[in-house]
Amino acid sequence: MSTSLWTYEPYLVPVEPASRVTLGEGHTPLVRSKRIGPELGLGNLYFKLENLNPTGSYKDRFAAAFSGIMRQKGQRLCIATSSGNTGAALAAYCAAAGIRCVLVIVDGAPLPKVRQMQLYGAETISVRGFGKDSKVTSDVFWELSRISKRLDAPLPVSAYAFCSEGMQGVQTIMYELIDELGPVHVFSPAGGGGLTLAMAYGAQLYGRGGATGLPPKVHCVQPEGNDTIASALRSGLDTGTAIPRSTTSVSGLQVPNLLDADEVVRQCRILGGNGHVVTDTEVFDMQKRLAQQEGIFSEPAGAVALAGLARAAASGEVGRDEKVVCLVTGSGFKDMSSVERYFELPEMPVVETEDMEDIIGSNG
Ligand SMILES: Cc1ncc(COP(=O)(O)O)c(C=O)c1O
Repeated sequence: MSTSLWTYEPYLVPVEPASRVTLGEGHTPLVRSKRIGPELGLGNLYFKLENLNPTGSYKDRFAAAFSGIMRQKGQRLCIATSSGNTGAALAAYCAAAGIRCVLVIVDGAPLPKVRQMQLYGAETISVRGFGKDSKVTSDVFWELSRISKRLDAPLPVSAYAFCSEGMQGVQTIMYELIDELGPVHVFSPAGGGGLTLAMAYGAQLYGRGGATGLPPKVHCVQPEGNDTIASALRSGLDTGTAIPRSTTSVSGLQVPNLLDADEVVRQCRILGGNGHVVTDTEVFDMQKRLAQQEGIFSEPAGAVALAGLARAAASGEVGRDEKVVCLVTGSGFKDMSSVERYFELPEMPVVETEDMEDIIGSNG
């Protein structure tokens, strides 16, 4: 099968073939859980490995869809905000398209994500308090909207509120899921909510062709330190809840402002999905279990959906035989500092050749 978004051409903003930029994004593996699913009492749990996209996250689908549009319009400059993954994706696709890329990065973004952007040639700036404090965050968005208009440059922030053309690329995750599995439940991690909304819109647009004949239920999972959507959805509110400060340490999900939140609440409810709130500790625990029980190297944000599913399974909201997909949204390589900080991994002994047998033998 061709590995690009353009398999779903009728569902994307049209871009002439000569302007498309593809790096082999999309068509990511869907693997069946070997150990965690059975432990949670689920017989049909799958992981969608978005960490295996070219720059290590699902944001490549966004960048692939939007970079072609920029190229077709002859844009020379792209300005964007990022917690890390959108920036890395845009930096790579802009590099391939020959477009200058300037990225405004959230305060405290993991260094490997920033270095990845810089190696692709992007210019990076970090603004103090951006992504943590809601006032600073909305000031940054407002100011960048003004600058991008003045310079006639696009501002592809990965949310429908800013860039619905790029988000249509993200919807292809759901098309692939429906084509391959026709899942009953899809669990998605949320910061600003764009990804979850892409799943919900994708399910509604494409869902009736699925195996069950019904679109999947899309669930929104958030860490409790950035609960702008999940509790609102769960408790029957009509809109999201802005928070003054994001306190989660999960990189990528620190978005205290309401970007796509209200629409996520509305669309997930239409589909019959729910909101699930998890602690950072549950997320890190699931990150470790993904690695040690499934062989999947995820960044913390990529383990959030599974942490939410564990809660839903425990409370009986998901049935044993239902098909469930958790989105693993980004690679563990993106955030090695959290691996150092949150897991007690052993020191590696340095030994002589003749000492090896004793050590290996004693562990066997
Ligand atoms: C790895 C990862 N997962 C999930 C998300 C959540 O996306 P959204 O802000 O669209 O809810 C992000 C956003 O940056 C991310 O980087």
